[in-house]
Amino acid sequence: MTSLKSTPRQWQQEYARKGIPSSYKTRPSSLVPLGLKALKTRDYRGLRSLDLGCGRGRNSFYLASKGFEAHAVDFVPELIQEIKAHAKKRKRKGKIVARVGDVTRKWPYPDGFFDYAVDIYCYKHQAKASARRKYRTELCRVLKPGAVYALSLASKEDGFYGRLPRKHGNQVMDPFTGVGSALFSRADVLREFDKTFKLEKFAKRRKRGRMHGKTYARETLVFVFRKK
Ligand SMILES: C[S@@+](CC[C@H](N)C(=O)[O-])C[C@H]1O[C@@H](n2cnc3c(N)ncnc32)[C@H](O)[C@@H]1O
Repeated sequence: MTSLKSTPRQWQQEYARKGIPSSYKTRPSSLVPLGLKALKTRDYRGLRSLDLGCGRGRNSFYLASKGFEAHAVDFVPELIQEIKAHAKKRKRKGKIVARVGDVTRKWPYPDGFFDYAVDIYCYKHQAKASARRKYRTELCRVLKPGAVYALSLASKEDGFYGRLPRKHGNQVMDPFTGVGSALFSRADVLREFDKTFKLEKFAKRRKRGRMHGKTYARETLVFVFRKK
């Protein structure tokens, strides 16, 4: 059974087209400050954050402004160049280390390096179970014990993704971009993460939102985990 796979080129085209909200939003996801509350300190200087599938860097710029050494990774080279250029201009607003990388391969960070990791709609695009397994192995490796991980993804009930025809099991393909996604319930996510993470917070968020020029009843699942 073939799984859906998306490429840097498809994503680069999506950022040019601006069909989905993270391709044009500049404010950080509300989950990023929410996850910060699970950290044991409010002084983030000297801490390191990791933004997985960082896109244009809205969440990393926020974390850098809070004092983190903010690491950002995405597999689209043009986005990483854009973040580096932007970071140069706003030097005094914190440190950003952006690099090109694929989250389904070995991550270029040492063991136990990060205090906080965020994934705002990147994990959900790893439609293949084996790709997500590799991601989780690397995530566990690079986080310190007790580190916090915030994850946001579309639920099976989402008014856009949830109505698309299922390709293989829980996989769907966005017909506008050709990009694959996996759809999750709360239980599906906990099954994938519960060996190595403890759930600290969960919420189901419903709101009307734009996708590719039309408004849908969106449903997002947000999780804050702590590494065991
Ligand atoms: C929906 S966008 C979200 C962007 C960003 N997290 C935000 O909230 O603005 C998903 C991002 O994940 C990136 N991505 C998807 N699969 C990836 C992979 N295997 N490795 C690295 N980045 C990936 C895409 O290039 C895209 O920038």
